[in-house]
Amino acid sequence: MKILSLVGARPQFVKEALIGAAARAAGAWNHVLVHSGQHYDMNMSDVFFRELGIPTPQHHLGIGSGSHGAMTAAALAAMEGVLQQERPNALLVYGDTNTTLAGALAAAKLCIPVIHVEAGIRQQPKSMPEEINRVLTDHVSTLFCCCSRQAAENLAAENIRDGVHVVGDVMYDLFLRMQPHFTPEATCNAHNLEPGRFVVATLHRDFNVDSPTALASMLRGLSRFAADADLPVLLPLHPRTQKRITEFNLSALVQGITCVDPLGYLELMSLVSAAALVVTDSGGLQKEAYYAGRRAVVVMPDTGWRELTDAGWNLLCAPAADKLEAACHAALQPMACPAAVYGDGKAAEHIVSLVAGRFARLT
Ligand code: UD1
Repeated sequence: MKILSLVGARPQFVKEALIGAAARAAGAWNHVLVHSGQHYDMNMSDVFFRELGIPTPQHHLGIGSGSHGAMTAAALAAMEGVLQQERPNALLVYGDTNTTLAGALAAAKLCIPVIHVEAGIRQQPKSMPEEINRVLTDHVSTLFCCCSRQAAENLAAENIRDGVHVVGDVMYDLFLRMQPHFTPEATCNAHNLEPGRFVVATLHRDFNVDSPTALASMLRGLSRFAADADLPVLLPLHPRTQKRITEFNLSALVQGITCVDPLGYLELMSLVSAAALVVTDSGGLQKEAYYAGRRAVVVMPDTGWRELTDAGWNLLCAPAADKLEAACHAALQPMACPAAVYGDGKAAEHIVSLVAGRFARLT
């Protein structure tokens, strides 16, 4: 049996690390890895392959950056060729990026079953590029690996019931697996930070950083909170955010913030584990903060990870300086961490046995 696995952006490397390793460990199938090339900088791609021990992909589509349409179209056309050449039993896609949708569409049109890992996440606004990718991918998929019951309920609300399984979150598996390798004290030292006395922030969503008003307001809010609470803010900058700060002439607003290049998994998790608080618009990081026992201010109008906001652990916040400051102060208040909501730490193994059971029958 042969399964193709398609990755392209940072959060997908993290998920592939676990599922590829679990498939190889079980000798479950011939696992063929494809990298779309959506993320290509050393610190956006290579560092994850190196740190997480992901083998070199057999195919690299080299799509690079571009408009949503251009990027999705390039990956769609290139994936069609790879799928025709490899003729796998099924294609594994992860999450909600343009790479995810392109792969799912290419496979569906060749009648190759699609396995969607992190299926059923739904989030407003419907116009968000990632939401479009999620919904369309789910509607051409065959096997749905959900992180939570809520995700399975979201699918049921759209009449998707067959092939839906709640398996937990592979990012939780990875967090538990890699935790012994986190080095919070040494990493804090390297960044001149005092454990427990700083904030880690990441901002990269188009609706936040492509708007000069929203970006300026978030930077103002972070600087003011840093000064007010006497907690330095470390901001690893996604290349999109870095470009916008320059383009919108906002460099003066990051004076009170420590900006660094994007960080690899181990360095970021080491810092999150020692932070007082996380501020983010990343889907992955809002869960990883919870896995590390840290609260997060989520700078989004809505989140796919509602279990954490419903519990009051993570706080949704608009991209406005005063709201961000207030949410950061509120999130510094201690509260009891909600019980495990994203599985038992064995999601990758559950996915491997589901896939092996389902598609071995077809060979
Ligand atoms: C993408 C995903 C998002 C995911 C995020 C993780 C889509 C629609 N969105 O958003 O779901 O949370 O990845 O980071 O697929 N760039 C570089 N070097 C790189 C990669 C990107 O300079 O290696 C710059 C380019 O200017 C590019 C911009 O960043 O145009 C945005 O990259 P893109 O992949 O389009 O979207 P992300 O914001 O990274």
